[in-house]
Amino acid sequence: MIIAPSILSADFSRLGDEVKKVVSAGAEWIHLDVMDGVFVPNITIGPVVIKGVRDTTDAFLDCHLMIASPEQYINAFADVGVDGITIHAEATSHLHRALSMIKERGLKAGVALNPSTPLDVVEYCLDIMDLLLIMSVNPGFGGQRFIESVLPKIIRAKAMLTGRDILIQVDGGVDKDNIKRLYDAGVDVFVAGSSVFKSQNPAKTVQEMLILATSEEC
Ligand code: DX5
Ligand code: ZN
Repeated sequence: MIIAPSILSADFSRLGDEVKKVVSAGAEWIHLDVMDGVFVPNITIGPVVIKGVRDTTDAFLDCHLMIASPEQYINAFADVGVDGITIHAEATSHLHRALSMIKERGLKAGVALNPSTPLDVVEYCLDIMDLLLIMSVNPGFGGQRFIESVLPKIIRAKAMLTGRDILIQVDGGVDKDNIKRLYDAGVDVFVAGSSVFKSQNPAKTVQEMLILATSEEC
């Protein structure tokens, strides 16, 4: 299992330190939320800031594009050194083409699905996918409450992906209370923003999440 802290909830005045802290604690991925104010009602970071993050860490940079027509910007994000790019199925009319572009840059290719989007939209792209991101909040903001109806969706996704080398990632409202249920449902990669960076001790929270997810029931 992999914890991918989302820097959306980090202190941007000392971003490098925030990233180093969670990576040292065992977070193998850093999750980068890119929002354009069109696909989602919020604007965040772009390639310039991500270049700065790349310069501070060797961790896997997991770039979640919440932008319209993501195929137009894949090269810009690949150029600043991300390791994987995830695009929303709802944001492009040409999902297969966009995923192919990501693969052509030698990066891991992911598809994100909003809570209301059915799993079958990825059926004919599975051959070129490395990751399926199941949103457990409506994308746009950190600190939202986990949507419970996503849990059966994860279980169905796990069955759909049996025998394939595709990671299941969950993003939104992940915390110490629900991480074990999500792990048991089949999640491989856990995005956690506010539960990590708004906690008193982000490094300790990452360590606790890693332990809690795989803990045995009493
Ligand atoms: C939401 C973003 C998330 C967000 C998660 O649109 O995609 O990655 O940062 O934040 P939390 O963990 O606070 O829900
Ligand atoms: Zn995200």
